[in-house]
Amino acid sequence: MTEALILTELRGDGARRTGLVTLNRPKQLNALNDELMDQLGAALLAWDADDSVGCIVVTGSEKAFAAGADIAAMASKSFIEAYQGDFITRNWETMRRIRKPVIAAVAGFALGGGCELAMMCDFIIAADTARFGQPEIKLGIIPGAGGTQRLPRAVGKSKAMDLVLTGRMMDAAEAERAGLVSRVVPADKLLAEALAAGELICAMGGPSVMMAKECVNRAFESGLTDGVSYERRMFHALFATADQKEGMEAFLAKRKAVFKHA
Ligand code: HXC
Repeated sequence: MTEALILTELRGDGARRTGLVTLNRPKQLNALNDELMDQLGAALLAWDADDSVGCIVVTGSEKAFAAGADIAAMASKSFIEAYQGDFITRNWETMRRIRKPVIAAVAGFALGGGCELAMMCDFIIAADTARFGQPEIKLGIIPGAGGTQRLPRAVGKSKAMDLVLTGRMMDAAEAERAGLVSRVVPADKLLAEALAAGELICAMGGPSVMMAKECVNRAFESGLTDGVSYERRMFHALFATADQKEGMEAFLAKRKAVFKHA
């Protein structure tokens, strides 16, 4: 039987619920190996295709969101194994195909591939115990799951260089100041806070949520003129949805909108 390296459950009691996935290799501080990433990718794709799921939260343990890619599994890898096996691209990039919002709820270590996995999510809510870093340089490698690209976009060149070149960790307060995380909460409130954000998102109109995510991501892939033009087309398209009529009519009637996600 395949070992469950992730735990999955649905949370919330609305029409659309939050998919909660917990990384589950606690003894190895959730070090991310191929099997775990395969299981994570499969869970994310299944929820993305499930109309009853509106949002996804990815979390780890109290001690570690994930302490990086699994060093024991990587140590003897050859160039040709990494290259021909499409290491990282093959299963880590599944996260990029997920169209519903994904929130990272991070407590403890988020290092190397763990930090990169968190950055692939749409936003990061951090416990005050969270520590972020890209320590790959200490292993004679560099970040390989997008860290050299996403970190500077999140925190700017100077801090990204500092973290990537020295391998030092930053705490949750520094990560919040730098713009890597959206908010910092007490560790014992982390999951509740992330699930509450998930529930809010689940109650919004599905098409507008999906288009909002797509448009914000576009900001990192195009120039301002193209990005704004892309946003404007999406904005116009939303006037074809029932949810836009419901949202605006509900506001004018001073009642709560009930979206049909259509
Ligand atoms: C494999 C790991 C691991 C990892 C921790 N462990 N991190 N195993 N891969 N990335 C294992 C340890 O070997 C140990 O196993 C157990 O988890 C507990 O770890 P300790 O070191 O005993 O805990 P502690 O003293 O609290 O130190 C915590 C830590 C340290 C500071 C996070 O474990 C650490 O520095 N880990 C490596 C962090 C790192 O370099 N990450 C980047 C990896 S490279 P045993 O069997 O001894 O109990 C990477 C590449 C990204 O991520 C590019 C592609 C994605």
